[in-house]
Amino acid sequence: MELLAISGSPSDPSKTALLLELAVARAAAHDDVSAELLALRDHDVVFSDGRDPADYTGDTRAVIDRVVAADALVVGTPMYRGSYTGRLKNLFDVLPNDALAGKPVGLVATGGTDHHFLAVEHELKPLVGFFRAWAVPGAVYANNTHFDGGALVDDGVRDRLDALTDAVVTFARRMPRDAAGAAAPDIPRRSLREG
Ligand SMILES: Cc1cc2nc3c(=O)[nH]c(=O)nc-3n(C[C@H](O)[C@H](O)[C@H](O)COP(=O)(O)O)c2cc1C
Repeated sequence: MELLAISGSPSDPSKTALLLELAVARAAAHDDVSAELLALRDHDVVFSDGRDPADYTGDTRAVIDRVVAADALVVGTPMYRGSYTGRLKNLFDVLPNDALAGKPVGLVATGGTDHHFLAVEHELKPLVGFFRAWAVPGAVYANNTHFDGGALVDDGVRDRLDALTDAVVTFARRMPRDAAGAAAPDIPRRSLREG
């Protein structure tokens, strides 16, 4: 099984990416899992311009293909203005509508404070729902006090991250991908040019 951890942070270093590196290490400890981090800061994903997702090329194409190929995801973002980053939004804009159908997704967020903890429920979970993926219960949220000297220093956050990662792996093992239910209605991406 391939687990892909996607970081929506533009920053380097990044607290979000750090958490996802820990999730990748945890996932890779399972014999049947290969896991890797896709840090969007390292990829030149073009802004969605409304074209058919099949028509993207270059780095954008490569990133789309990696997401589509993954069996399970852990998606992490810093809170920006009470939501996920524009970079992460853009990734979801260029993905085909069926890219995540039936896949388990663990959600991870970091924020300056706990102020926007519920944004995971209000912002990220509906996005996962649109893609007919499974939002695995037990999202992880970390704030600035959970990090020191470039490391995660909060055992509670680490335990929650381990539990979330293990749950994503267990879910992907046990839940068949075709259990995603009815297909979403086709939402055409027609431009004015096409009439
Ligand atoms: C443009 C911008 C907007 C932010 N908005 C919020 C916010 O609404 N709520 C919050 O808790 N933190 C906010 N922060 C703080 C970041 O979410 C926080 O520092 C996060 O851990 C950064 O993650 P990173 O190191 O992975 O980039 C904001 C930071 C930036 C740069």
